Amino acid sequence: MAEIEQYSAHIPVLRDQFVEAMFSDPDGCYVDCTFGRGGHSRELLAKLSAKGRLLAIDRDPEAIIVGQKLAAEDERFSIEHSDFGALGALLDVRGWYKVSGIGFDLGVSSPQVDDATRGFSFRHSGPLDMRMDSSQGKSLLQLLEHVSERDLIEILRKYGDERYAQRIARAILKAQHASLLATTAELENICFHAVPKKARYGTTHPATRTFQALRIWVNDEMGQIDHAIEAAIDHLQDAGQLAVISFHSGEDRRIRDLIESHVHACICPPQMPICVCGKKPTMRWLQKKPLRASEQELETNPRSRSSMLRVAQRLSEQEGLKLSGYSGVSA
Ligand SMILES: C[S@@+](CC[C@H](N)C(=O)[O-])C[C@H]1O[C@@H](n2cnc3c(N)ncnc32)[C@H](O)[C@@H]1O
Repeated sequence: MAEIEQYSAHIPVLRDQFVEAMFSDPDGCYVDCTFGRGGHSRELLAKLSAKGRLLAIDRDPEAIIVGQKLAAEDERFSIEHSDFGALGALLDVRGWYKVSGIGFDLGVSSPQVDDATRGFSFRHSGPLDMRMDSSQGKSLLQLLEHVSERDLIEILRKYGDERYAQRIARAILKAQHASLLATTAELENICFHAVPKKARYGTTHPATRTFQALRIWVNDEMGQIDHAIEAAIDHLQDAGQLAVISFHSGEDRRIRDLIESHVHACICPPQMPICVCGKKPTMRWLQKKPLRASEQELETNPRSRSSMLRVAQRLSEQEGLKLSGYSGVSA
């Protein structure tokens, strides 16, 4: 625990805006899918009445220890050690079929990045792990043993928008086959030398995108998001609110598209004069254009620089029908 406290500083990003976006009813049930060190959870608890309830989730055992301490102090709060991909099952088991608000603050926390032994950062050398829950799944080093060059290039392109994906992937696998790759410092060095000289000294370190892409791959972050956003929408009560903070464009696009498919649910071809699919919208945007951190927040928390908050609200059945203009009679 002493060690956890040593790394426990995490300044919650867009704290007031995120909590405001999730919150509607002081007596409601809420879910914070990414507890971290509980900055958002604590702020939400401050808004709840004695009847209100908050369930938090995190896949990181260290976050769970902090959350259990909070649960012992506040009976309105509980925490589950789980992937948020299992959100639907976690809520169903509790009988929380419809809740007032659900929030996600995606990515990694500062304590995870700052602890070199977790292997997330190229600023502090550590083992090539990158798992948010190191008790499960395979570490980065283990995954690299079996990945093909083609797949690795695809991972760097898809999750990191890495322009030099081919050069970096080749260099990584060459070092790995020669047993010259075991630490984040070695990986950083490989990325640095794999990119052309002109790309080595820009504003972003040449290893940044590769580290981001590999972390997303190791933790199946996109698969988790797909499952969780669908489950969240399914478990929101009418007028319940969904708030999502993401930190890079690929993640944000995924969130936008998943929510948008519930805002514009009709799948009829555009040439159809009227809707015959009968699919009705179930969500409306409250914040479609991502909200970003203010200059003031950026000054105190540089990590908020790339944060983007999107907010949507669950529609009632009647609102969905009205918006779709669907008569209920097939053409
Ligand atoms: C940015 S931090 C959240 C910080 C938190 N809002 C706070 O105020 O302290 C993201 C947290 O989400 C957790 N996380 C990321 N992906 C997850 C997933 N698929 N399932 C469960 N937890 C996840 C990470 O372990 C990390 O603790």
